[in-house]
Amino acid sequence: MPKIEISAQSCKDFTGDALVIPIFSGRERHRLPLAVSKVARQVMDEGDFKADFLEIAPLHHPNGVKDCRWMLLVGLGDEEKITLNKIRKAAGAATRFCLKKGWKAIGFLAPSTSNFEHDEVQESVLEGALLGDYDFSTYRSKPDVKRAERIEVFTNGDDTRKARRRQAVIEIGVAANHLVRDLVNTPAADLYPEAFAAKAKALAAGNGVAVDVLSPEELERDGFRALLAVGKGSSRAPRVVKLEYTPAEKPKKHIVLVGKGLCFDSGGLSIKDAANMETMKCDMAGAAIVLATLIACSKAGIPAKVTGICGLVENMPGCSAYKPGDILRSRSGKTIEVLNTDAEGRLVLADLLHWASEMGADHVIDLATLTGACTVALGDGVSAVLGTDQRLIERMLDAGARVGEHLWQLPLVEEYRENLKSTTADIKNITSNRQAGVITAALFLKEFAGGASWAHVDLSSVWATAEKDYRTPGGTGEGPRWLLEWIAG
Ligand code: BES
Ligand code: ZN
Ligand code: ZN
Repeated sequence: MPKIEISAQSCKDFTGDALVIPIFSGRERHRLPLAVSKVARQVMDEGDFKADFLEIAPLHHPNGVKDCRWMLLVGLGDEEKITLNKIRKAAGAATRFCLKKGWKAIGFLAPSTSNFEHDEVQESVLEGALLGDYDFSTYRSKPDVKRAERIEVFTNGDDTRKARRRQAVIEIGVAANHLVRDLVNTPAADLYPEAFAAKAKALAAGNGVAVDVLSPEELERDGFRALLAVGKGSSRAPRVVKLEYTPAEKPKKHIVLVGKGLCFDSGGLSIKDAANMETMKCDMAGAAIVLATLIACSKAGIPAKVTGICGLVENMPGCSAYKPGDILRSRSGKTIEVLNTDAEGRLVLADLLHWASEMGADHVIDLATLTGACTVALGDGVSAVLGTDQRLIERMLDAGARVGEHLWQLPLVEEYRENLKSTTADIKNITSNRQAGVITAALFLKEFAGGASWAHVDLSSVWATAEKDYRTPGGTGEGPRWLLEWIAG
């Protein structure tokens, strides 16, 4: 994390590389502090900058700012349509612009608007700036890391106390987001099941989270046969990691988070084509989110008990690989006919959800990059939610909306269960047509979730092919921030 300051002083006294001034389109430029209004008005009057949402104009050595070489105007668009998430995104996009220039000491003026409380605006600027302050530099031979060293948020004289109190929680959420990006971006050659488990062990232990790693032998003993089958074609054997956060006082509720951790998904013998395999190191995003959320819950000291289980497996077409036509006896005893080895996530989750159902929790939520169909339906900016508890789902959707991570409910249409009927086993792992892939995958999982309050998240928004606002290409890190918001709320 960079050095952070939320300051009530005037932004004209900022000393650093660049001062970011968010501006509403239209007449709002007249409300800017005197120090910056003249130069901003000039570029707008001349028509060079309209303050459209996310539009950026860098100005060199502008009048009004003494010890800062650059001023960056960033558009917020129409004030009537402003949201806290737009403020986050504008601050994040400005940060990304600065980092690419090598500017590391960045000041931000919190925009003045009556649509939100001052502290909400200040917090959104800080959060957006920090979310954008990410660089996956581990594998670059050049050592320059494009990260900020100092971030200052200027409040134009408004009270800073509330935002300062929230700063720690904001940092916890951003750190969790960045951890998920790091894990998702790490190549599968370096983050295979055993390596992920070791990493989880180290991170959990350092952050007050209890951790237990189940070895392949223990998984065999405990009947995780569907999960183990998926891993058979790889030289890297599966692991299951159980994480546990218990609050100091008596917990108000117990939540189990289940993560799909396919460290690599080649498709197995039903192998993917080259284009579809390119990004499949991201297939462990669910497990990464579970790990990062547990750590965040512990750091924030939230009053709920949270258990996390991560199913870490590699799906490869090696000579011992499981095969289309195989029938697996899952941990629950239900038998599964495998017709496509690329529908492997649901096999891993079948065993994990059955285990989770024995834990007597109030809610079970699984997080999984389960279907390509989800990206077809919703794109890479929205994840799908389905489940058996409408109240739970609504609270999840609300939490997502509050933190600016988009979740959308799809219906769990019971009559589609027909399509999963097998002639030789209790259920088959694919349907014979291409309809409603997200829903039929969720219906498959439901068979193993027991009667508990359960929701499934199909994670189509964890990987971005291009840079967008505060999101960097590759892992987006979405997940822990809305989960933390929901669990803490
Ligand atoms: N991991 C994939 C789903 C996926 C695809 C996630 C693209 C993110 C981006 C999953 O294991 C898979 O391959 N699903 C199959 C299911 C099908 C065989 C029923 C799919 O979506 O094609
Ligand atoms: Zn697959
Ligand atoms: Zn997969």
